[in-house]
Amino acid sequence: MTETAVDLSSVVERARADISRSASIDQLEQVRIRLLGKKGEITALLKSLGGMDPEERRTAGARINEAKDELLGAIENKRAKLEEQALAQQLASDAVDVTLPGRGQRIGGLHPVTRVRRRIEQIFRSAGFEIAEGPEIEDDWHNFEALNIPANHPARAMHDTFYFPDGRLLRTHTSPVQVRVMERQKPPVRVIVPGRVYRCDSDMTHTPMFHQVEGLVVDEGISFANLKAILHSFMKALFEKDVKMRLRPSYFPFTEPSAEVDISCVSCGGSGCRVCKNTGWVEVAGCGVVHPNVLRAVNIDTERYTGYAFGMGIDRLTMLRYNVTDIRMYFENDLRFLRQFA
Ligand code: PHE
Repeated sequence: MTETAVDLSSVVERARADISRSASIDQLEQVRIRLLGKKGEITALLKSLGGMDPEERRTAGARINEAKDELLGAIENKRAKLEEQALAQQLASDAVDVTLPGRGQRIGGLHPVTRVRRRIEQIFRSAGFEIAEGPEIEDDWHNFEALNIPANHPARAMHDTFYFPDGRLLRTHTSPVQVRVMERQKPPVRVIVPGRVYRCDSDMTHTPMFHQVEGLVVDEGISFANLKAILHSFMKALFEKDVKMRLRPSYFPFTEPSAEVDISCVSCGGSGCRVCKNTGWVEVAGCGVVHPNVLRAVNIDTERYTGYAFGMGIDRLTMLRYNVTDIRMYFENDLRFLRQFA
């Protein structure tokens, strides 16, 4: 046996042992490099062939290459085994229990107040009204002055206004948008204005922020009778019931005459219950014929044009439609409550 043959068999023996002992792909790779890398043991043996005479080179070469092939095969086998093991281990540790109940993905729904607002818009749109909007931060002119509520007018006290230091305020009703619409549009005007309003007030039936929808119609020959007809048709459409409606004389600085709008209680049908406090009627809106001073404030000819306006609480209408007795539920965002409307 030549030197090379002795070297070779001890290299191969050690390599077999190291390959089978390798516990990880990394370790196995170290062994492969040690044997077959640029400076590997087998590589070195192959290089040594160059210094041999032809006869010797042929036999030694064949043996070394045979050994190389054997070791490469052993490494590949081992690698496949190790990979299989690693995969099995990963699958065991990542195991998913497919019998567990899923977390579920609930589909959201529109807020009940939004649903009713959209319904109101739909009904008025089909009656030829346009939808207008205005800012929630208002100035004194639009919220009060132009609506015939001058400084020191007692009506201001009823509005529980939130003021900013610069004198602007959070609008206390949607009526300022009446003024804004008429400032930019000459009659005929036929709009509703849904939106948020703010008053410093909070109990079962009041929240500091709530929603109103304003209505305004200005044209030639508009009368109180038109107002009454529109409101009654609207109430019947909204509640999908033959609700009765009555108007009680009232006072608003920006309408004359003014009225409070009651409908027969949608909860008990008028026989008396908790919702209507046993009166059979619930108040849902304020309304009236637009005061000439309001038209004058926006330079509309009061000889030629008349109009009506109304304002109703969307949250209140929503409470009636869904039989909810505490308005605060709408703004607490308790999903157990809100889900019932989805
Ligand atoms: N703006 C009044 C309120 O908030 C409601 C209203 C609007 C009354 C339009 C008459 C006409 O109470």
